[in-house]
Amino acid sequence: MQQVSTVMAGRVPAVRPGDALKEAVARMRAEAAAVAVVLERGVPVGTLNEAHAAGAALVRPGLQVSDAMRPLLGTIDATDDLSAALPMLARPGSGQLVVTSGGEVVGVLSLAELVPMLSIGPAPTPPGLKGVVVADTEVSDVCGEEGFYHYRQYSAVELAERRTLEDCWRLLLDGELPRDRAEREAFAAEVRPLRSASPLVMRALPAIAGASEPLEGLRTAISLAAAERGLRPLYDIDQLARRADALFVAALTPTLLTALYRLRQGEEPVPPRPELEAGANYLWMLTGVQPSAVHAGAIERYLTSTIDHGFSASTFTARVIASTGADLGACLVGAIGALSGPLHGGAPSRALELLDEIGSPERARSVIESKVRRGERIMGFGHAVYRTEDPRSNMLREVARQLGGPLADLALKVESTVVEVLAELKPGRRLYTNVEFYAGVVMAACGIPPEMFTPTFASSRVIGWTANVLEQAQDPKIIRPSARYVGPPPPQPVPELQG
Ligand SMILES: CC(C)(COP(=O)(O)OP(=O)(O)OC[C@H]1O[C@@H](n2cnc3c(N)ncnc32)[C@H](O)[C@@H]1OP(=O)(O)O)[C@@H](O)C(=O)NCCC(=O)NCCS
Repeated sequence: MQQVSTVMAGRVPAVRPGDALKEAVARMRAEAAAVAVVLERGVPVGTLNEAHAAGAALVRPGLQVSDAMRPLLGTIDATDDLSAALPMLARPGSGQLVVTSGGEVVGVLSLAELVPMLSIGPAPTPPGLKGVVVADTEVSDVCGEEGFYHYRQYSAVELAERRTLEDCWRLLLDGELPRDRAEREAFAAEVRPLRSASPLVMRALPAIAGASEPLEGLRTAISLAAAERGLRPLYDIDQLARRADALFVAALTPTLLTALYRLRQGEEPVPPRPELEAGANYLWMLTGVQPSAVHAGAIERYLTSTIDHGFSASTFTARVIASTGADLGACLVGAIGALSGPLHGGAPSRALELLDEIGSPERARSVIESKVRRGERIMGFGHAVYRTEDPRSNMLREVARQLGGPLADLALKVESTVVEVLAELKPGRRLYTNVEFYAGVVMAACGIPPEMFTPTFASSRVIGWTANVLEQAQDPKIIRPSARYVGPPPPQPVPELQG
């Protein structure tokens, strides 16, 4: 028998639910405690994780301990056998057990203390890190089984239907939606002047556009804009300066992308218009034509619905780079690279190509069947996390229906056949339409050319990347996992060069 007291973390400060979170974090830091016990009238009601609480307190200064505490998994006596702790810690929800002795709190116990004792190696990692939790976040999350995703505490689909892109930008960056028109306008007044590119960047764009597609060109243009502005390593600057860099890069991105596209077409860039909302301004800069309210609204909704989406590959990439303390430009260049892959952001134009290839609803079954039998993936279907319909595709299906037109008609007719064929040929995989399928249809109906589909996605996702980078920058720990070496056993003698 081994007693709980031998492995528990002792010396845990006690805080109260109504204490200001900022002050609780300061106390925990002063006492070098990673966890505090939350006591209500002397009775433990939860635990507070310092790293999580510190992030929350910074994003929303007015929070109390009760806003960030984790529910109590249970209490255990310091003299109990450790084996009694395991089933309690295995309960759903991450958290700690509070350890008591003679009615007094004397420590906490979490799985972290137990794992080294169990002499089991690390659990095998699923391919692609699927389902592996690698960080705590307050930015956004995706509930794959439920078909739901949210920006902070709000349904993202509801936000896209009821709020502007800039409202959601403020929510992700500063933690709160604008409460009234004055707050909305104050944020617009802060970000819209940042839409314009500097003369130096504008002069460089023709050469960049001549050499690369808009999304590749964006990497170069952002590097240049970041260098010109003198973006400093996240590690060396405070949260306020990081926020200023985040607004600068995110506001500039749509301007760079649309200018790069136009220059590549042999046309002059169209400067941004500060009086326009994000969606309307984007279409304006892309086409040079004042968009209709219907098209502007459809694109605003699309852009708002794609701001963030949990730990996608590009977001994770941005956060890994942020964890090294590099500057925000470096984080975004990495994220754009990850997004450019067809398995991530590169699918909407391919989804449209699929519709082109199908041509008419009667051909859908045979085209899809032969593709799946050849082992090809059907673009616009399947998702790494959703095991039901992608809520973004549900919303965009409605937008496509409202916009109408032959492409929308074909997509609406073909969708169910594709889902049916996938269910027959890939039984049990639960493959449904993802965001890309209707995204292409909606963008095409609003006059966005296929080569700008992924760049358009990037023009709003940059907001999510920056919000994630700001959150990651508050965690001083570098992300540095390990790999299992499976090559020939070392050390082998190094052969001499022959000949
Ligand atoms: C998005 C995507 C990369 C997710 O991949 P994933 O999480 O690795 O999915 P899985 O590999 O676990 O898929 C499980 C099975 O379904 C199959 N599958 C997944 N998506 C498929 C698709 N679009 N068409 C045909 N088969 C598909 C896989 O081949 C696999 O089959 P298997 O078990 O016989 O090998 C994948 O669904 C895909 O390639 N979709 C098409 C590209 C696309 O639309 N991308 C945009 C995403 S928003």
